[in-house]
Amino acid sequence: MANMRFCLLAVVVLLGCVEALAVPAHVEVHEKRQSLSPRWTKRDRVESHKVLQMRVGLTQSNLGNGYEHLMDVSNPTSPNFGKHWSPERVIDAFRPSKQTEDEVKEWLVKSGIPAKRITHSDNKGWFAFFATTEEAENLLHTTYHEYEDSVTGGVMPACEEYHIPKDIRKHIDYVTPGIKLLAPVESHASKKRDAALASEGLAKRNLHGVLKVENPPYTDPNDLDTCDVAITPACVAALYNIPLSISSHPNNSLGIFESELQFYTQQDLDLFFDNYTQYIPQGTHPVPANIDGGQQSTEDPFEAGGEANLDIQLAYPIVYPQTITLYQVDDFIVQANQNDTYTFGFNTFLDALDGSYCSFSAYNETGNDPTLDQAYPDPEIGGWAGSLMCGTYKPTNVISLSYGGQESDLPITYQKRQCLEYMKLGLQGVSFLFASGDAGVGNYPDNIDGPTGCLGPNLDIFNPTWPGTCPYVTSVGATKVYPGSKVTDPHPESAVYDPAGHPYSVNYSSGGGFSNIYPIPEYQASFVKDFFDKHNPPYTSYSALSPDLNVTGALPDIGALAGTSGGIYNRIGRGIPDVSANGDNIAMYNGGNFTLSGGTSASTPIFSAVVTRINEERLNVGKGPIGFLNPSLYANPGMLNDIINGTNPGCGTVGFSAVEGWDPVTGLGTPNFPKMKEYYLSLP
Ligand SMILES: *[C@@H]1O[C@H](CO)[C@@H](O)[C@H](O)[C@H]1NC(C)=O
Ligand SMILES: *[C@@H]1O[C@H](CO)[C@@H](O)[C@H](O)[C@H]1NC(C)=O
Ligand SMILES: *[C@@H]1O[C@H](CO)[C@@H](O)[C@H](O)[C@H]1NC(C)=O
Ligand SMILES: *[C@@H]1O[C@H](CO)[C@@H](O)[C@H](O)[C@H]1NC(C)=O
Ligand SMILES: *[C@@H]1O[C@H](CO)[C@@H](O)[C@H](O)[C@H]1NC(C)=O
Ligand SMILES: *[C@@H]1O[C@H](CO)[C@@H](O)[C@H](O)[C@H]1NC(C)=O
Ligand SMILES: *[C@@H]1O[C@H](CO)[C@@H](O)[C@H](O)[C@H]1NC(C)=O
Ligand SMILES: *[C@@H]1O[C@H](CO)[C@@H](O)[C@H](O)[C@H]1NC(C)=O
Repeated sequence: MANMRFCLLAVVVLLGCVEALAVPAHVEVHEKRQSLSPRWTKRDRVESHKVLQMRVGLTQSNLGNGYEHLMDVSNPTSPNFGKHWSPERVIDAFRPSKQTEDEVKEWLVKSGIPAKRITHSDNKGWFAFFATTEEAENLLHTTYHEYEDSVTGGVMPACEEYHIPKDIRKHIDYVTPGIKLLAPVESHASKKRDAALASEGLAKRNLHGVLKVENPPYTDPNDLDTCDVAITPACVAALYNIPLSISSHPNNSLGIFESELQFYTQQDLDLFFDNYTQYIPQGTHPVPANIDGGQQSTEDPFEAGGEANLDIQLAYPIVYPQTITLYQVDDFIVQANQNDTYTFGFNTFLDALDGSYCSFSAYNETGNDPTLDQAYPDPEIGGWAGSLMCGTYKPTNVISLSYGGQESDLPITYQKRQCLEYMKLGLQGVSFLFASGDAGVGNYPDNIDGPTGCLGPNLDIFNPTWPGTCPYVTSVGATKVYPGSKVTDPHPESAVYDPAGHPYSVNYSSGGGFSNIYPIPEYQASFVKDFFDKHNPPYTSYSALSPDLNVTGALPDIGALAGTSGGIYNRIGRGIPDVSANGDNIAMYNGGNFTLSGGTSASTPIFSAVVTRINEERLNVGKGPIGFLNPSLYANPGMLNDIINGTNPGCGTVGFSAVEGWDPVTGLGTPNFPKMKEYYLSLP
């Protein structure tokens, strides 16, 4: 016994010396921890025989080529339009280079890790192997200690720094266990979340929450003269010239994302079908796709989800007899607390659609973020006891998401990794449509976005919405039938904000503006330029993008970004929305009651349902789905109804104006089904 202790001590002393004095000349520090959060305490050395599960993250290649690959299959002038990629081809295109894989493996084997112990992850992003602590310490010229988390009591191995041969470093993102301490650490975002917990509540922060009016008027379901009072399925069909469908192609379905305790009620769907769409049989309901414990519906009218009921009631009249696939994301407990996270479960959703995303590394984020995303199994009583779903569901051709937050609420690296995933699924033919938000150029005041919902030292900088600013998705804004207008008028719609007032209107402002993270994508560059040239907004601007490399793990400092220019909006960021659709005075049933509702939440399922119908037409003639929409939308703006009235106020301004051509209020405009159909059927 005495002898063993002595041995151990000798090893410690020896390694300590090696680290201080004798790190070989061919290696360099790869990562070094700058400081230790007071939450963590460094404890004993990890015993040398203890086995560690090592992962070596390989530098991915070609991430920068994603835009070009996506354009190649979605730009209508490309000879490869519509030739979507298989999941395997997507993995291959972005996998680390052969040289990276070979050289890292050679280094591991030479350093004493037998080749047969090394496995390569399914997404090709990293090597994994078991090693004793002694082996790992020799490999990385480091020492591992136990670190104890004072909050959870959890213990994990980590080191202060580790070394990698100079010529290998360029191939490696990072190694775990390494310097990272992975229990939910005190991050900027979680501090803000804690503060937000004390704030006034869900309604104001839930960006795309459904807005309702009291004592709604009930109009005749077939009367097209009252569409300025209540938008019925007949009004939507008339506005956008959408005929009833008769087909249900087996390879088509409209995907709708729900979370945050948004459960539909069959009673409400049936009331709606009975009043408005007798061609849809009673009992019709979505195809369930429950993710990590999600549940579809509720029978209690007091638990009826206004968002879920709205999305489904708007989409069915357009797509029926085609199906809706309802992706219900996260277990009940996680959904109930999701108003604190700002992540809306998008990462767990994407994991379930694409197994390779579960462990995908980009921007120094690997897999889900332990400080932001829910881990499964969920240990809470009643939580999802299964493991995280990875690649469980095939994505539908079109996915409608009436959820989102602000760019400023989440780390840029987190957003960019997720944005890359929209690109990868776009390559596979999936269209993502996100609501542009209901608070104009700002956000609702709250703890995270401050008392004005706007950014910067003077709380006046416009606050763009996420994830719609990701250039690989389609952002959808909201319009309304202008009071007194008829659907048969040449320009019946304006932007949803209605300064003149209207007796039955819900008063909100459709989200729009310019990203602080993503540059203007080429597909919309001439449109944004035209907007600035012909309708220069009456505000000072800045021209800056949050740099990739300086902000790992941090919230974007938009105030610093805007600098001292005094500008309040970005002149070089991606513009949103791309398109729009009606989002005001929407007739629906919720909790057994008739109501009028609205929001970009309503616009998004309408536009998504139209795209599903266009895909249906394409599939029926043997073509594939459109996939990523934006390049073809901007290539043929005449197939949309240009909206030229209205604004999107916020941050103490009247916001931007809807004008001829693209604008950061209504985008290119609302759908014209026959024109869209003709155009998309003409494409290969
Ligand atoms: C989040 O939702 C839960 C359950 O509805 C509620 O108890 C809590 O107060 C909400 N938190 C915030 C910050 O709104
Ligand atoms: C549906 O897709 C599958 C797989 O791509 C294909 O084999 C099948 O032919 C398609 N069905 C129809 C009716 O097009
Ligand atoms: C429409 O819904 C109401 C309940 O809001 C119901 O009383 C009425 O019978 C329905 N009308 C039709 C034509 O189905
Ligand atoms: C990722 O981390 C490595 C090592 O800490 C660093 O050198 C690199 O700049 C980081 N990359 C990004 C994109 O943040
Ligand atoms: C709508 O809201 C804005 C800002 O809160 C307010 O200035 C305007 O008077 C409201 N309009 C109506 C018709 O209520
Ligand atoms: C990071 O910040 C430094 C100093 O602020 C700056 O010189 C550098 O260009 C930034 N890096 C990037 C990639 O923007
Ligand atoms: C439906 O409306 C009635 C009458 O206004 C009200 O008493 C009831 O609470 C409402 N139901 C729900 C689920 O909100
Ligand atoms: C829309 O704007 C045009 C041009 O400014 C104007 O002539 C028209 O009256 C406006 N329409 C409505 C309904 O306000």
